[in-house]
Amino acid sequence: MALKNINPTQTEAWSALANHFNETKDITIKNLSKEEHRKENFSIQFNDLLVDFSKNRITKETLSLLVKLAEEVDLKDAIEKQFTGEIINATEGRAVLHTALRSTSEEPVLVDGKNIKPKIQTALRKIKSFSNKVISGKWKGYTGKAITDIVNIGIGGSDLGPDMVVESLKFYKNQLTTHFVSNVDGDHVSEIIKNLNPETTLFVIVSKTFTTQETISNAETIKNWFLKSATIFDIPKHFVAVSTNLEAVDRFGIDKNNVFPMWNWVGGRFSLWSAVGLSISLSVGFENYKALLAGAEEMDNHFRNEDFEHNIPVILALLSVWYNNFYKAETEAVLPYSQYLSKLPAYLQQAIMESNGKGVDRNGNTIAYQTGTIVWGSTGTNMQHAFMQLVHQGTKLIPADFIGYKESLYGLTEHHKKLMANYYGQIDALAFGKTKEEVHLELKFSGDEDKINQLLPFKVFEGNRPSNAILFDKLTPHSLGKLIALYEHKIFTQGILWNIYSYDQFGVELGKELAKKLLNKQQ
Ligand code: F6P
Repeated sequence: MALKNINPTQTEAWSALANHFNETKDITIKNLSKEEHRKENFSIQFNDLLVDFSKNRITKETLSLLVKLAEEVDLKDAIEKQFTGEIINATEGRAVLHTALRSTSEEPVLVDGKNIKPKIQTALRKIKSFSNKVISGKWKGYTGKAITDIVNIGIGGSDLGPDMVVESLKFYKNQLTTHFVSNVDGDHVSEIIKNLNPETTLFVIVSKTFTTQETISNAETIKNWFLKSATIFDIPKHFVAVSTNLEAVDRFGIDKNNVFPMWNWVGGRFSLWSAVGLSISLSVGFENYKALLAGAEEMDNHFRNEDFEHNIPVILALLSVWYNNFYKAETEAVLPYSQYLSKLPAYLQQAIMESNGKGVDRNGNTIAYQTGTIVWGSTGTNMQHAFMQLVHQGTKLIPADFIGYKESLYGLTEHHKKLMANYYGQIDALAFGKTKEEVHLELKFSGDEDKINQLLPFKVFEGNRPSNAILFDKLTPHSLGKLIALYEHKIFTQGILWNIYSYDQFGVELGKELAKKLLNKQQ
């Protein structure tokens, strides 16, 4: 059964929220924070994860109206449909089952009447045995040497997820060096191969369709480069593919034993949990890869079973809708306080904006309300010395997610104390600001009394800028899996709330077509 079509703006909860917004839009986080038990009432602890959303412009009533909205659009029904393999990606006629990829339960998940779980287990065993062989050095290149470098050739979902995870889990990596080639810009591939030894490099071509211009061009260029020193009989030792398009993979010359499966019930941007994540397993080992999946599964179970009031992805999605649709915020910032997560914002840009950047609802009608948020960000503390000026004192409201860890990985505690002091310092500065009176006093004490009139307005911080503090104990494969799944479910929830199809991406096609036409004209 398909997803329901419910225009959110026609619901009772939406009207109530609109009224509630008019009544409460001038509330301040500063005043709200004086409420007794504010923090406890607006936080969710879920094992090693604490989400504190108390520094938002919301009251208990806001939250209960938002939850009512989720109920009125029948989010519960949509969640069950997603997890059980209904064709919820109706425009492409597909189920959406990245959750099945990390499920360890015995519960069968049917696609076209067949349980897909055994196929998933077979693929995982293949990933395990291949990763073990390459990492241990049993897998030899064409001159009998062990593999030292992995090159992932892919783009979009076949690049951003694995690249982000490999970077985020660098602390856990083994002796292999992993590279990523994505752009059709020939300088990208040239830079990657220039220092590589074909004898010791393994190429993983990742393309669900195996027709993507960028990926196939890069793969062909690399194959030609490889064949300058090796022969076509050496290809099986150095090229493997992850794809649904077995014919095209075969035409490329890849041995059928070296093909890892992809399925059309997994969207590209949600595919790092499938064999698309092969480069992750190669980089950190299969056990760590499994831990990543286990973390995601923990979040899946939370999302599927927890009531909405205590459901982290649901709450974060509702807050985002609150700012996007009522406060008219245009963008959201994702600010991880871990250098390892430097690639998270780019990954989330695809996941969020390719999914929810839609202007037509599930009835095919043009939408008259705002949908997908623009997401951007960078790591703390670097961004404090870059764009945070605008977030603190600019004219735009930019809700932000601060992602942090209680512990650092190398144990430089003095650094970590400073890092986390900045994390909390930024959150408080955004929420509470600095009043005229405080600035006045400060200038007076610093001996700048004569400059008070001149400087005072520039030094005031309005505050009242909302943020969520997403705090894990430690960055591990498990907690990373949980974090990624959290955002995946937030995306899904928002798509349901906005009555759009989150799992197609027709918007990327026109530019591709025109580029092809132009190219054909030139030839
Ligand atoms: O251009 C968009 C897109 O279709 C993404 O959704 C996808 O992740 C990417 O291209 C790569 O596609 P493929 O894995 O088929 O090469």
